[in-house]
Amino acid sequence: MDKLAIIGGRPLYGRLPISGAKNSALKVMVACLLTDEPLTLTNVPDLADIRQLTALLAQHGVEISRDGNTLTLHAASISSTLAPYDLVRKMRASFNVLGPLLAREGEARVSLPGGCAIGARPVDLHLKAFEALGASIELDEGYVIAKAKGGFRGAKVTFPFVSVGATEHTIMAATLADGETVLDNAAREPEIVDLANCLIAMGANIKGAGTQTITINGVDKLGGTQHMVLPDRIETGSYAMAIGITGGELTLENARADLLGAAISTLIECGIEITETENGLRVKKNGGRIKGADVVTQPYPGFPTDLQAQFMALMATADGSSTIKETIFENRFMHVPELGRMGADIHVDGQVASVRGKPKLKGAQVMATDLRASMSLVLAGLGAEGQTMISRLYHLDRGFEHLEEKLQNVGALVERVRNQN
Ligand code: UD1
Repeated sequence: MDKLAIIGGRPLYGRLPISGAKNSALKVMVACLLTDEPLTLTNVPDLADIRQLTALLAQHGVEISRDGNTLTLHAASISSTLAPYDLVRKMRASFNVLGPLLAREGEARVSLPGGCAIGARPVDLHLKAFEALGASIELDEGYVIAKAKGGFRGAKVTFPFVSVGATEHTIMAATLADGETVLDNAAREPEIVDLANCLIAMGANIKGAGTQTITINGVDKLGGTQHMVLPDRIETGSYAMAIGITGGELTLENARADLLGAAISTLIECGIEITETENGLRVKKNGGRIKGADVVTQPYPGFPTDLQAQFMALMATADGSSTIKETIFENRFMHVPELGRMGADIHVDGQVASVRGKPKLKGAQVMATDLRASMSLVLAGLGAEGQTMISRLYHLDRGFEHLEEKLQNVGALVERVRNQN
């Protein structure tokens, strides 16, 4: 299996392009199932998760072509409403084909999902929302068997807590419903606004995306469109934190400050200078060591759980102590023992990790445990003394486009070592 070798201690300088957001691209790709006309998406990152979803959509009969970062998806007809275990288990976002298949075909059989091992991650909110919209749902040997003969009916859905996936999934289902659907306590992530904008361009009637109440008035038919996926705020935050760890100055091309929510003020508080430029963000370390800061992960616009692991790597070399509370996922501290191998001083008590910063970490052999955790090891390795070897790179390949190339271009000593045991 491939490993990533990093020699730490080099400051990073130059221009680093931020890719399209994986978490947005995955959802707008699924939207192609809602129309028999072609949907063209630009700024789609080339990632394992995207290829995985492409295989699933092809299996449903979608014709897909890729030209660079442009993807055209054409679901002229749906050849199968079955989403098999093998294609759904590796990535949770695949489960979101259920709503569009039901909306268009009135029935679907979709495997329960997989994804990163960061907690139980059930789909009960998705299923309850579909029942409210008139679907009948049965669970049978790991599959959801759902029927909505005659289509969905508009309804009021109040989510008991915020779920990004359930909000997106229900918006898609409601676009073709009969009547009005109102979602309360909806997630407000930028990726939800991006999905809604794409659906609106396809002819949907959606109001309030980006707020906690979203109203969808069903339409008879959606059509094709062209849509550009928004830039990846998690990749942006990760590379901004890299500068906090290594020093130097990067221009994060295409990055948008307005997508970062609470993360931007936290990074500035820690001593990372962030300035908007015409075409992105300039990120610089503001002299001296990074200062410790406390964070609590929250739904957007709070501090994102998807930057928690990377922030912990930053705090591991900060001046002072910090506490990091994870409130979204129950098992998202798997990077802690790995950072510990590099000398980080972190103590976990339930949902809270207490970090005592040290001037330097030491390179070590470490293992990526999930997608964002693997990025925290990369960041720690970039700042550490000596060599860090990261195994289980397939986690990283799911979500960070051209990672080695992007880092090499700004002066990092990073190399993929093929077929290492
Ligand atoms: C999405 C993102 C993921 C991010 C997460 C939170 C994608 C592909 N993934 O995941 O990177 O970390 O948002 O920002 O966009 N839950 C339930 N029942 C449900 C649905 C969710 O209990 O039916 C729980 C989950 O287990 C979790 C919490 O709700 O503890 C939030 O999950 P959710 O917001 O749905 O995350 P995802 O959409 O899976």
